[in-house]
Amino acid sequence: MSKNESKGRELLFSILKYNPRDPESKPAFVEYRLTETPGMTLFIALNKIRDSLDADLSFDFVCRAGICGSCGMVINGKPLLACRTLTADYADGKIQIMPMPAFELIKDLSVNTGKWMEAMSKRVESWIHSNEVHDITKLEEPIDPDVADETFELDRCIECGLCVTSCGTALMRPNFVGPAGLNRVARFQMDPHDKRTDADFYELVGDDDGIFGCMSLLACEDHCPKHLPLQEKIAYMRRKLVAQR
Ligand code: SF4
Ligand code: FES
Repeated sequence: MSKNESKGRELLFSILKYNPRDPESKPAFVEYRLTETPGMTLFIALNKIRDSLDADLSFDFVCRAGICGSCGMVINGKPLLACRTLTADYADGKIQIMPMPAFELIKDLSVNTGKWMEAMSKRVESWIHSNEVHDITKLEEPIDPDVADETFELDRCIECGLCVTSCGTALMRPNFVGPAGLNRVARFQMDPHDKRTDADFYELVGDDDGIFGCMSLLACEDHCPKHLPLQEKIAYMRRKLVAQR
């Protein structure tokens, strides 16, 4: 143990473990005690637990910098990115971690957000719709810089799924397109390259599994690590699409 570690307080982790592919496995919280180090994140803590206490513990990380969206978990009841969460934020040193609901559980804290995001992308036809033939020898049509900025802003979604886990409708209604899906629709709706009309978007998400399913509980926006204006865009689209009813 290093000098720094010897000075750290003891943290108590309670982690939900379950392997849905193992018929013998039953969901259960397992406790681990770990000495806190300066600047410790949940990423560091979970790796230490796996290295020194439980080699079987499963969880996902890629970038460790809040960019890849792989490490969403429910930490003391809140959906957070584990790589951006400090153990120092938990004054009593007690940290409970569960996998994000709404996504297929792979094992322990590892969930399949990719499968959900792929289905959502297909469902909202997440690509530019246009019949224009592009001539690559010509310059692209310029677009208003403010519109470009707004489009890029919504494109900052890292598909972490925290908004979906935070969403009461998504948890109750598995077919709900979710805040991430509605954000994607808003992104294409404002992009002048996409020629879909409001009537087309109404066909796509003009029901209770789409824009009218949102209960405006605001938790999606509260938990989005990229601070995307999810509720503002949902409210805007709802006002536009209600006119198509
Ligand atoms: S909208 Fe925000 S919370 Fe939802 S998936 Fe994208 S980055 Fe994550
Ligand atoms: S590991 Fe990439 S966002 Fe946390």
